[in-house]
Amino acid sequence: MSTSSAHRYSAKARWFHWSMAALVVLAYGLILSRVEFGKSSPVRAFVVHSHFWTGLLVLGMAFFRIAERRRHTPPPITPPLQTALRRAATLTHYALYAFLFVQPILGLSAVVIETGALPIPLTDLQIPSPFPTSDRLAEKFEDLHKLLASIFYWVIGLHGIAALWHHLVRKDDTLKRML
Ligand code: HEM
Ligand code: HEM
Repeated sequence: MSTSSAHRYSAKARWFHWSMAALVVLAYGLILSRVEFGKSSPVRAFVVHSHFWTGLLVLGMAFFRIAERRRHTPPPITPPLQTALRRAATLTHYALYAFLFVQPILGLSAVVIETGALPIPLTDLQIPSPFPTSDRLAEKFEDLHKLLASIFYWVIGLHGIAALWHHLVRKDDTLKRML
């Protein structure tokens, strides 16, 4: 059964959702795969720098996504959710939106405060930072960045499982609204 456009997220919202979900997975995949390459190999540098820029693309897109979200209220779920479930979903969505901003900002802060510049992949070029460098502060940002990444494996995982639960167990249109 198809879901009419009045019962789905806007086309832009769906595009943002799935392309940004793919970019977040790519950002995780790139940085986790870096250990496969030699410490100072150019491939490892490329993989790590691509992680930075994938995350920055997420940050850039997040601003446009929020603007789109403010223009269109999501369609209601049929059958409607109980209050507790609706509140839990809203809270998770706030957390996911916050992650899309805070996670790249923490990573960017760690890099520019440690090295004083942001490297451009496949080149020797760097974008200089106006901020003073500090190893101690950079380490704090990096620790927070890694901690948040670990927490959000769970949040993102549960979010995906919840979507499947709605579709397969509760048999409502939550997932169809996002397809
Ligand atoms: C969606 C956005 C992002 C996600 C999901 C993400 C995820 C991660 C994860 C999972 C790690 C830890 C890997 C590990 O412990 O083995 C990590 C490390 C790191 N990330 Fe990100 N990140 C994002 C954006 C960024 C951005 C925008 C930058 C910088 C411009 C950045 C810089 C770093 C740095 C410097 C590390 C430490 C790398 C190392 O220890 O060698 N991240 N990130
Ligand atoms: C595992 C794959 C994923 C699936 C199956 C999925 C599915 C869904 C579904 C069905 C909705 C609509 C929920 C509702 O209206 O109650 C939704 C909303 C949302 N998803 Fe995902 N998602 C996935 C991955 C992600 C990722 C990786 C992120 C970002 C880190 C994300 C961020 C969001 C946000 C912020 C919303 C709220 C949209 C709004 O109402 O404004 N999702 N997702």
